Amino acid sequence: MELRQAIAERRSIRKYKPGMTITKDQLADIISCAGEAPTWKNSQTGRYYVALSEEAMNKVREGLPEFNVNNTINACALIITTFEMKRSGFTREGVAENELGDQWGAYDLGLQNENLVLRARDIGYDTLIMGIRDSEVLRANFDIPESQQIVSVIAIGVKEDTVPMPKRKEIDSVMKVF
Ligand SMILES: Cc1cc2nc3c(=O)[nH]c(=O)nc-3n(C[C@H](O)[C@H](O)[C@H](O)COP(=O)(O)O)c2cc1C
Repeated sequence: MELRQAIAERRSIRKYKPGMTITKDQLADIISCAGEAPTWKNSQTGRYYVALSEEAMNKVREGLPEFNVNNTINACALIITTFEMKRSGFTREGVAENELGDQWGAYDLGLQNENLVLRARDIGYDTLIMGIRDSEVLRANFDIPESQQIVSVIAIGVKEDTVPMPKRKEIDSVMKVF
């Protein structure tokens, strides 16, 4: 699939087709593509906790509000995304390089996550990034170390239906050329 097509076809999907599966190898491929994204000094601080069994997915759902639990029905896998703190955007001595500090870790993870969702679409899967989640429940259920900032949960599955793109801002309102 062409990149432009994958970008155009990717949508946040909240209704997945029942009976679909994804393999560990496909998930490894998707997450490897995430790892090819650029990161601060190649620090690669993104980490991925992949729930593939129904039992593991239910442990992720314990950390989601009801509306997001409902958004994950029939998903093939749920991925918790985190990053190791105080590395991206920091010197080797642990001093922040500038005012953004650990926001660079979130920036890097976002770049990786975009690769992840586009590669998923590329191989026929759909996704939903969820930022509304309870990080402490997820940390306890998956034994995620305190050194990692928990960011999102990403559902992967096969869409039940095509959904239209929510309206985007006009280019002139987001781009200034000098
Ligand atoms: C950081 C982030 C957090 C989000 N959190 C949620 C969420 O908790 N629940 C949800 O249903 N959608 C969530 N979304 C999906 C957005 O609502 C969606 O991306 C936006 O409406 C644009 O639609 P599109 O992804 O189909 O282009 C999130 C998206 C991002 C990037």
